[in-house]
Amino acid sequence: MIEITNLSKIYKKNIQALKDVSLKVMPGEFISVVGQSGSGKSTLIKLIIAEEKVSSGKIIIGGWDITSIKDYEIPTLRRQLGIIFQDYKLLPKKTAYENIAFALEVCGYKPKDITKTAQQMLSLVGLKDKGDRYPHQLSGGEQQRVAIGRSLVHKPKLLVADEPTGNLDSINTRDIIDLLKKINSMGTTVLLVTHNRDVVNNLKSRVITLDHGYVISDQTHGRYLL
Ligand SMILES: Nc1ncnc2c1ncn2[C@@H]1O[C@H](COP(=O)(O)OP(=O)(O)OP(=O)(O)O)[C@@H](O)[C@H]1O
Ligand SMILES: [Mg+2]
Repeated sequence: MIEITNLSKIYKKNIQALKDVSLKVMPGEFISVVGQSGSGKSTLIKLIIAEEKVSSGKIIIGGWDITSIKDYEIPTLRRQLGIIFQDYKLLPKKTAYENIAFALEVCGYKPKDITKTAQQMLSLVGLKDKGDRYPHQLSGGEQQRVAIGRSLVHKPKLLVADEPTGNLDSINTRDIIDLLKKINSMGTTVLLVTHNRDVVNNLKSRVITLDHGYVISDQTHGRYLL
């Protein structure tokens, strides 16, 4: 699913954010990525979604070597990934339904297919009855659900999430993690960056720990180390 070999990332001014990172993600895994602030977690996500360029090493996603991906190929890559962030990134002037539908409209789907998929996604994330609400009329947890629904419209095999519960209280956090587990059980591989010790310890799945850009631990049934 993901094969990363000797990956390094050096930002401007010689800031080295990732150092010689190698890891393999198998289809169907649910992996937490943890580490202190500045350890390189978001950088890893940004390289996987081609928001930043690789300095050295290699990233292969689903058999596609994206190490030197061209700008015009990036939309194709992004359509194969589900991507969610801490701040939801919803369009404020569109309803929950429209936010999800828009992701399909820009790709030129037929109106009939857009309606069907958008409604399916709203149901999947438990918001069937709130499709006509605007983001400001939804709780943080509900907004993240919309973002998750939107991220899944192309039925990605891989979902990457950078601190998706960072702005949520513990109850909403649990609900969002339960939703990610459900999506994982339906066959989507999940790569979750989180600071949340309880989330990681409750998941009892693989935990990769970064420290100053290095992978310092990769445990199959891991716990939060730091
Ligand atoms: N665009 C950038 N330009 C220069 N340095 C950057 C840039 N983005 C990140 N860095 C640096 O790279 C290192 C890793 O940052 P990164 O955002 O990957 O950390 P993180 O583990 O996600 O931290 P946090 O938990 O605070 O989100 C840090 O030293 C950071 O200051
Ligand atoms: Mg980060």
